[in-house]
Amino acid sequence: MGISVSPLDPADEATLDAVYRTAVAAQAEDEPDLPPLCRRRFEAPLRHPMPGVDTRWWVARLDGAPVGWLRLHLHTLDNTDNASVELVVDPAHRRRGVGRALHEHGLRLLRERGGKRLVGSTVSPLPGEEGRELPGAAFAAAVGAKPALADVRRRLDVTALDRPRLAGLLAGARTAAAGYRTVRWSDRTPEEYVAYLEGRLLVDAPLGDLEWEQEKVDAERIRGTERALDARGVRRYHVGAVHGASGRLVAWSMVSLAANTTWHAWQQITIVDPAHRGHRLGLLTKIENLDHALAHEPELRVIDTFNAATNTHMIAINEQLGYRPAAGSTDWQLTI
Ligand SMILES: CC(C)(COP(=O)(O)OP(=O)(O)OC[C@H]1O[C@@H](n2cnc3c(N)ncnc32)[C@H](O)[C@@H]1OP(=O)(O)O)[C@@H](O)C(=O)NCCC(=O)NCCS
Repeated sequence: MGISVSPLDPADEATLDAVYRTAVAAQAEDEPDLPPLCRRRFEAPLRHPMPGVDTRWWVARLDGAPVGWLRLHLHTLDNTDNASVELVVDPAHRRRGVGRALHEHGLRLLRERGGKRLVGSTVSPLPGEEGRELPGAAFAAAVGAKPALADVRRRLDVTALDRPRLAGLLAGARTAAAGYRTVRWSDRTPEEYVAYLEGRLLVDAPLGDLEWEQEKVDAERIRGTERALDARGVRRYHVGAVHGASGRLVAWSMVSLAANTTWHAWQQITIVDPAHRGHRLGLLTKIENLDHALAHEPELRVIDTFNAATNTHMIAINEQLGYRPAAGSTDWQLTI
C-alpha cells in the first residue's frame, strides 16, 4: 500500500487520537523539557480558528496506519503570499519518505493558490549541543528551505528566583519610569486599552531574512484572538504601563498558560511604544507581570520565552531577570 496522504476528517476521532499522539511523541524527542502539547489547543484550528488563519490539515498513512501529519496555515488578512507549516512524522516511522510526501502535498496546494513562500521552524542546537541529532533541520535543508532567522528559547526557573536582585531591579525600574503607572488585567483586555494595543503595529522585533509583513491588528482582530484563546482555555496575565500625562497605554507584557498545565507558562509579547523607550518600561512590566501571574498561578515553576538571537535589548532584560538559554530554534523559509 505504501504512503498515502488525505485531508484530516474532523469527525474521525481515532485518526485525531493518532495524530495527537504523534505530535506528543515528536515533541518528547525534540523538546522533552516542555509540558505535553495541550490537546484542546492542538485541535482548536478545526473549530476555533485564529482570525486571519485558514488551516488545512492532512494525514499521512503508511500501509493504512496514520504516521504523520501536515498543517498549512494560510494567512488571509496579511502575509497572504505566505503559509506557515507544521509537519510531523512519528519517531517510529521516520526516514521512509513520509515527511517528503507530506511536504510535496502541501507544496502542490500552495502552488495552485499562487502562494510564494513556506515558513516553518525546527529545534536547533545551542552552542555546545552541536552533536545533538535534530532531524527537522536536516529535513528542511533537504527540501531546499533556507535558514532565515535564528531564535533562542530561554527559560526562567521560578523556583530559584533571585528575589533581592529582582526587588532591586524593580526599584530601579520604578525610578526610571517616574510619570508612568502600571495596570494589570487577566484574559480579556479592558475596552479602554484595546485601541492602544492596535499599536502592536509598531512591534519591531528582528525578523532576519524572513519575508513577513507587519500584521494588521485592529480591535476586531484583538477580540477575535481573545475568543480563540478562550476556546483553547489559555489563561493570560497582562501588565501595561500608562503614561500619566496622556493617559495612553504605552507598554504591554503578557504571560500565558495552556489549559493542561499549572507549572509552565510562556512569556509572550513585550512591547514598548518607540516614543516611550529608555524608561525601563519593558523591565518594569515584565517583573510586575511575574508577580501578577504568580498571584494567580501558585504552582508555576518555569516560564519560557523565544527571542531572535539578535534581539539584544530584549535578551539583556531577560538575562537580568534570570532567563537562561534552554534550546535553539531556526525559522526556515522556502521560496516557491
Ligand atoms: C523532519 C521530519 C518531519 C522528517 O520526516 P521523515 O518522514 O523522516 O522524512 P523523510 O523520510 O521524507 O526524509 C526526507 C529527507 O530529509 C532528510 N532527513 C530527514 N531526517 C533526517 C535525519 N534524521 N538526518 C539526516 N537527514 C534527514 C534526508 O535528506 C531525507 O532523505 P533520505 O532519507 O532519502 O536521505 C521528522 O523527523 C519530524 O517529525 N521531526 C520533528 C518535527 C520537525 O522538525 N518538523 C519539520 C519542520 S516543520
